[in-house]
This record gives sequence, C-alpha cells and structure tokens, in this order.
Amino acid sequence: MKLSSTDRLFVLTGAGISAESGLATFRGSGGLWNGHRVEEVATPEAWDADPLLVWRFYSMRRRDALAVQPNAAHHALAQLEQQLGDRFYLCTQNVDDLHERAGSHRIHHMHGSLFQSRCVRCNQPFADSAFYESAPLPTCTTCGSPIRPHIVWFGEIPLDMESIYAQLDRATTLLVVGTSGSVYPAAGFVHIARQTGTRTIYIGPEEPSNAASFDDIILGTATQVLPDFFDHPSSK
Ligand code: APR
Repeated sequence: MKLSSTDRLFVLTGAGISAESGLATFRGSGGLWNGHRVEEVATPEAWDADPLLVWRFYSMRRRDALAVQPNAAHHALAQLEQQLGDRFYLCTQNVDDLHERAGSHRIHHMHGSLFQSRCVRCNQPFADSAFYESAPLPTCTTCGSPIRPHIVWFGEIPLDMESIYAQLDRATTLLVVGTSGSVYPAAGFVHIARQTGTRTIYIGPEEPSNAASFDDIILGTATQVLPDFFDHPSSK
C-alpha cells in the first residue's frame, strides 16, 4: 500500500501482534484467560477479593513477556514510525513492552503497562518489573497504601482517551492489527474513523467481530503481512 506525503497513519494493535513472539492471545485457544477467568484476575472486584492472586497473575505475565523478543511486525511498525515521524501514531491494547523494545516511541498503551505499577491512592505510575508471588505484597513508601499493577481492568476507563480521539480525528488511514474487535472502546475506533472518511484496514489471520466495518481485511499473520505492507512511504 502507498502512503502519500500528507497521509497520517493511526495504528491500533492487539494481542495478535505479539502472538508470533510467543505471548498467548486472550481469546484464542491456549489464551491467557483459559487458565484464569477474567473476573478472577482482571477486575477491580478481583483485586478487592484477592490481591495476591491478581499479583501472581501479573507476575506470571511479566515473566512471560521478559522471556520473549519483538517480532518482524513490531520492527516493521518501528521502522514506519521512523519514516513517517509525527504522521504516525501507535495505540496498543497490549500491556507488554515489545513495541518499545522494537524501537517504537510514539506509542500509547491504552490498557496500561505490564512493567509499571502504581499506588492505589497516590496513583503515580512507576517502572516496576518485580514479581510479587507471596505475602507481603508491596505498599507505597509515601502513604503505605497497596501497590497495584498499572493495568486497565474490565470496568475501568482506558488511559488518555482524549488524545486517542484527537489522533483518530487527524488520521487518513486506520490500520488495525491482531485484535478480535470485541473489547470497547478500541473495537469502536473503526466506526469513528469511517465517519470522517478515513481508510480502514484490518490485518490478522481471521476476521475480527467488527469486520463488516473495515474497507479492507487482509488475512494473514502480522509477521507475514506487515513487513512488506507499505511501499517506502514518503518522509516529507
Ligand atoms: N497475527 C495477527 N493477528 C493474530 C495472530 C497473528 N500471528 N494470531 C492471532 N491473531 C489475532 C486473532 O485472530 C484475534 O483476532 O489476534 C486477535 C487476538 O484477539 P484477543 O485475544 O481478543 O486480543 P485483543 O483483541 O487484543 O483483546 C483486547 O481484551 O482482555 C482484554 O485488555 C485485554 O487488551 C485486551 C483486550
């Protein structure tokens, strides 16, 4: 696909882009939630009921993410950012850091970051790659309140939706990669984009739930399709 020198690209990624690095998707077979029901580990209620279980789960995810490497699709997006500069915006639902490790800088983690934690009271996220798998669980050095994963759980509002919508509004192309299109608000970005005439493209091995709303569906895995998807975009 060709991008002109005035095109602005908004990329939305989901768990599928990290699948070929070896991280399980959520809803696929062998998906993360198969071993742990969502409500057990990724809701404020789960946190209230059993913070140790929640921390064990996110510690396991930290271990899994630390053990894998970015793949060709992560690298392709990092390269695209270098070429497009501020005409490129990457919004990911993923909490892993594989995009950053591939070299992406213009990236927003709308569902939080696996390698950040925050005090439930002070609310200030900080870098944290520790494993919390037994009591006592970490507490804030300032106020003594519990430290939780900096993850957006079900029922919580994704981070910085205002800048996401502002970027979506400016985009001329929305490229969505590896997400089932079943979790809102991200699943609704394609509807917003269409209202302003933005071209919408999906890349993944199977059709997402919101497939009918895309202009183009490219069936294939992220590493098969993304590296050669764009013709050398103009950097001006
Ligand atoms: N390349 C591209 N896409 C792939 C690949 C691959 N190699 N392998 C699988 N996929 C696709 C699947 O076809 C599926 O559509 O990735 C998608 C993964 O879907 P989900 O598991 O539902 O993950 P995602 O859409 O990112 O989930 C959204 O749900 O549980 C919450 O907060 C969590 O951010 C997550 C959100």
